[in-house]
Amino acid sequence: MEFTKLIETRRSIRKYASAASKEDIEAILTMAQQAPSWKNGQPTRCYAVVTPEMLQKVSEAGLPAYNQNSSKGAALIVTTFVKNLSGFTPDGPANKAGNYWGAYDLGLHDAYLVLAASELGYDTLIMGMRDAEALKEILGIPDNEEVMSVISVGKRAQEPAMRPRMTVDEMTKFF
Ligand SMILES: Cc1cc2nc3c(=O)[nH]c(=O)nc-3n(C[C@H](O)[C@H](O)[C@H](O)COP(=O)(O)O)c2cc1C
Repeated sequence: MEFTKLIETRRSIRKYASAASKEDIEAILTMAQQAPSWKNGQPTRCYAVVTPEMLQKVSEAGLPAYNQNSSKGAALIVTTFVKNLSGFTPDGPANKAGNYWGAYDLGLHDAYLVLAASELGYDTLIMGMRDAEALKEILGIPDNEEVMSVISVGKRAQEPAMRPRMTVDEMTKFF
């Protein structure tokens, strides 16, 4: 799809007709891997959940009821970043932002992920409301990773309107 159209038509989807296949999730994650990161450190880690048993487990324990409901019928990708990597030198944090740089890199990765999913005909919902400890336990996520989002990936069963955005003038100062 043409890039401008892809950006204009992407929506957060909270009702799914079907889930993305494992093969398509691999293709989406391959594209997302092209995102830039601090010194190409690639701190993002993904836990892709595609089997019905694991989807039920992860959803029930790892998401609040409203996000369980919104993501029903979709595949789930739990995204984390390796701490003390992006934004860090062997001597410690490169500046005051510290591990915010890991979250920054993960956000870039996830932006690529949702657009790559759109390109392959899938829709997504990034969910920041999740139970990180439950997800760590179920998926065996190590302590050196920070759990950030759970992203649902599937085909949309609703056509939500575009959410309003601030204008460039409202959020930018030109000098
Ligand atoms: C970091 C982040 C966390 C979010 N967490 C949730 C969430 O837990 N549940 C939810 O329904 N939507 C969540 N959203 C989706 C936003 O509400 C949505 O992106 C925003 O309203 C704009 O709508 P749009 O994505 O359709 O353009 C999240 C989005 C981001 C980027």
